[in-house]
Amino acid sequence: MSSSNNSIKKTLGVALALCIVCSVIVSTAAVALRPTQQLNQELDRKSNILQVAGLYEPGVDVNQVFKDKITSRVINLETGEYSEELDPETFNQFDASKDPASSRTLSGDDPAGLIRQENFSTVYLVGDAENPNEIILPIRGQGLWGLMRGFLALKGDGNTILGLSYYDHSETPGLGGEVDNPRWKAQWDGKKIYDYSDSEMQPEIRLVKGGADSEYEADALSGATLTSRGVTNMLQFWLSEAGFAEYLARFHDNTQGDA
Ligand SMILES: Cc1cc2nc3c(=O)[nH]c(=O)nc-3n(C[C@H](O)[C@H](O)[C@H](O)COP(=O)(O)O)c2cc1C
Repeated sequence: MSSSNNSIKKTLGVALALCIVCSVIVSTAAVALRPTQQLNQELDRKSNILQVAGLYEPGVDVNQVFKDKITSRVINLETGEYSEELDPETFNQFDASKDPASSRTLSGDDPAGLIRQENFSTVYLVGDAENPNEIILPIRGQGLWGLMRGFLALKGDGNTILGLSYYDHSETPGLGGEVDNPRWKAQWDGKKIYDYSDSEMQPEIRLVKGGADSEYEADALSGATLTSRGVTNMLQFWLSEAGFAEYLARFHDNTQGDA
């Protein structure tokens, strides 16, 4: 080996050239793959909505089933009315929650730890959109390690839970990560949110340690008190008047809930 190739200058030059080539490759790959990643995220979101709605089967064309079975609408969270201006195809509520023009600060009353809340939300309806069989609501809130995002599926009465499913969280597998355990998820079917004999539309549903013994209670995750508290908090927040309570009130007399 010639001694000139061992000079510090040449070594640094090769290292620098290698760094530049690698960073160009990584950046190009990141930019080129972004549309594919976005499509896959969208597919994953749709597939989660179908799963919580009980409409998913392995091998199905997720986009097609979603198109055939689900109607997406955007609602005004304050009034509970449908928005005619916002297109559910393009409206992104996570982006909206970061924009001061389309969200509000949650100071003092933020049990789900969101800091900001969007003014509008997408909802997903199964069956006749005016008289749906199922209503699927996006919910999110802080767990122990970070934000948990999921969907809550309700019967057409807007009060009976069909399922709760998280598609994005960073809870510990075996502890808070048990929110993904099919056995834990199975308990949600039939649980109730509001006690209509109470005049307030305050959600009653919560996780409890040591065994749920009413239709307003579900079993907490064992060894994961903090994740369980996060799940209760986000359910209570999103089902309160700050969330979907105004919207869900319109389904109170919907007989689809008895189906
Ligand atoms: C490495 C590690 C990971 C943990 N992950 C979670 C978790 O995902 N969710 C949670 O609630 N608690 C988690 N914990 C436990 C909490 O620190 C706390 O002990 C627990 O929530 C208490 O729950 P328990 O009263 O049901 O035992 C974790 C602890 C350790 C050491």
